[in-house]
Amino acid sequence: MTEMSTSNKGLFISFEGIDGCGKSTQVQLLMDKLEKEGVDSMLVREPGGSTISEEIRNILLKTRSETMSARAEALLMTASRAQLTKDTILPALERCTCVIADRYQDSTLAYQGGGRGLDVDYLIQLNTFATYALDPDLTFYIDISSEEGLKRSGTLNPDRIESAGLKFQEKVREQYLKLAHRYPNRFIIIDGTGTIEGIHGTIWEKTINCLNDTP
Ligand code: ADP
Ligand code: TYD
Repeated sequence: MTEMSTSNKGLFISFEGIDGCGKSTQVQLLMDKLEKEGVDSMLVREPGGSTISEEIRNILLKTRSETMSARAEALLMTASRAQLTKDTILPALERCTCVIADRYQDSTLAYQGGGRGLDVDYLIQLNTFATYALDPDLTFYIDISSEEGLKRSGTLNPDRIESAGLKFQEKVREQYLKLAHRYPNRFIIIDGTGTIEGIHGTIWEKTINCLNDTP
């Protein structure tokens, strides 16, 4: 087992990136490694992760003829986040469980801000409200081109947001890169074109450093 310092609060790590960047693959590898190392941890995914949040997820991702307004989309994403944060994430961190989130607040800034064109500073305030001002300690942003993302995610059963296309994913990526520069203390940009094992190695190294640094 790896030596780790004891902290009075769990570590909160989020994973971000455009569709198909390899996030879910890396989240699962990190979860497996944490379990192997005996670190108490929990995985949550957004939108979703609790009963109410999963119901909101179904509304959000369903393809239908009526167009969902960008504002309704942002409010539903953040409503789901508020429920997940209060019911699941905050209690877990309080009992020193490490929380790994497959998407969190930055997805709203990148997709509804960059992708849909809503005001990012306004969305930051909305996020602060929805997250009870909780920020991740570490955010792994996996960067790939929109072409590669689309190729990897496949087009067999795209959800409503994945169907928005290449240009949309490009705008989302651009916004992620801006966020990485805006929040350099918690953002770690990972080159998503590396091998699955190589990327996992980098992520594990940063995670273990952060676990050891936590007071
Ligand atoms: P996301 O959760 O970001 O949408 P996934 O983790 O589901 O992405 O990965 C999408 C696809 O790309 C999967 O088939 C996965 O095996 C593949 N993949 C993931 N990471 C890599 C990588 N580094 N190189 C090549 N293919 C990858
Ligand atoms: P999901 O199937 O979970 O995709 P992925 O495996 O890529 O995470 O679908 C989530 C979709 O919702 C994805 O396209 C990103 C989008 N999304 C937003 O637009 N805003 C948000 O705040 C969140 C959390 C997700």
